[in-house]
Amino acid sequence: MDDFLYLDGILYAEDVALPEIAQAVGTPFYVYSSATFVRHLKQFEDALAGMPHLVCYAMKANSNLAVVKLLGDLGAGMDVVSGGEYLRAKAAGVPGERIVFSGVGKTREEMRLVISGGIRQINVESEPELRLLHQVAVSMDISVPVTVRVNPDVDAKTHEKIATGKSENKFGIPISRAREVYRLAADLPGVEVVGIDVHIGSQLTDLEPYRLAYQKVRELTNELRMDGHDIRRLDLGGGLGIPYERSNVRPPQPGDFGAVIRETVGDLGCEIEIEPGRFIAGNAGLLVSRVIFRKQGDGRTFLILDAAMNDLIRPAMYDACHEIVPVVEPAPGVDRIPVDIVGPVCESGDTFARQRTMPPLADGDLVAFRSAGAYGAVMASEYNSRPLIPEILVNGHQFAVIRPRPTFDEMLNRDRLPVWMGS
Ligand code: LLP
Repeated sequence: MDDFLYLDGILYAEDVALPEIAQAVGTPFYVYSSATFVRHLKQFEDALAGMPHLVCYAMKANSNLAVVKLLGDLGAGMDVVSGGEYLRAKAAGVPGERIVFSGVGKTREEMRLVISGGIRQINVESEPELRLLHQVAVSMDISVPVTVRVNPDVDAKTHEKIATGKSENKFGIPISRAREVYRLAADLPGVEVVGIDVHIGSQLTDLEPYRLAYQKVRELTNELRMDGHDIRRLDLGGGLGIPYERSNVRPPQPGDFGAVIRETVGDLGCEIEIEPGRFIAGNAGLLVSRVIFRKQGDGRTFLILDAAMNDLIRPAMYDACHEIVPVVEPAPGVDRIPVDIVGPVCESGDTFARQRTMPPLADGDLVAFRSAGAYGAVMASEYNSRPLIPEILVNGHQFAVIRPRPTFDEMLNRDRLPVWMGS
């Protein structure tokens, strides 16, 4: 299913034609489909049906307040990795008992913030963190529910920058030392052990690494129970990948992921938590941009867009390939030629695609990047003093600006001149 389809030769987001949005807000912009978010969340809900569970959306993928509220109102929990994300979840109306706090470097202030606002559990990643959390909690006269994130030393077979489950990665506690750390936790009254946490990486398109990791979690659950710990929750992380390029290979779906969970840990009597981000948000969004110039180089044609690496950094950062399609559907059988699709930023790395075969596109034409709903807007910056681009949410025939484009004045007014420079 795809909520971004051509109708009478024009690309739509649900029931709204993209040129209509471009007319209203200018380009470039991000546009999201409510229906896609909702459907993807439901796929995970269905995948875990029959097991006590909570789907905690990994907000880092797309943390716009409207997106978080859309999912939160449907009962989703949230996986947050900073005080800022926690405050967004709360502002969107998600209760603390549905928020889990992950991350390798939580500060004392962030611990206080989430404890005072209410938190389902904190996923602890090291002994120093465990000790600090204990101290903070005792000072607040409370005992905080925790899991320990274990690093199972499994190869997630994904891009090196987003693999997290090998021993050389900074994440979690080596699974071989887990029992020791749980023993320490049991001695600290500020924390209450409730379960185990694991997350092995992002954009996984093979389920075997999950099976290996969850098998290890299963063994650890049994050992920890023998040691006397009340392991009643398993947070199994996120990471399920999405197809970025059209292909005939069917990538694993939430149902397949759910089956692996059922087979490996389903009979342990634990409540299951998962933290999907990309699968829920990725294909719920497009980046829409306009061709500024079509430029003829030496043996190469460049399409220079008004979107750049500061708006969507994934191609520059992970060599990610996003499908780019014209907003006006090309006539069947038109000649396609290889072009380089680039942004206006002053770096060669500001290249979205090299020698991509595209239908004819001219100055002023609109194009859409698919699969841009996750790790798109959230990773944007103002590099080259390019204001952040707007985000639009579509719901059937309606659309709303859920983050406006700042004016140049708003951008400039955030800087301050020191007094010694005079006025
Ligand atoms: N849980 C934890 C603890 C995580 O670190 C992550 C992602 C997730 C859940 C969600 O993973 P997902 O389901 O979205 O794959 N910026 C990169 C991806 C970084 C992922 C970081 N952690 C990209 O654009 O590919």
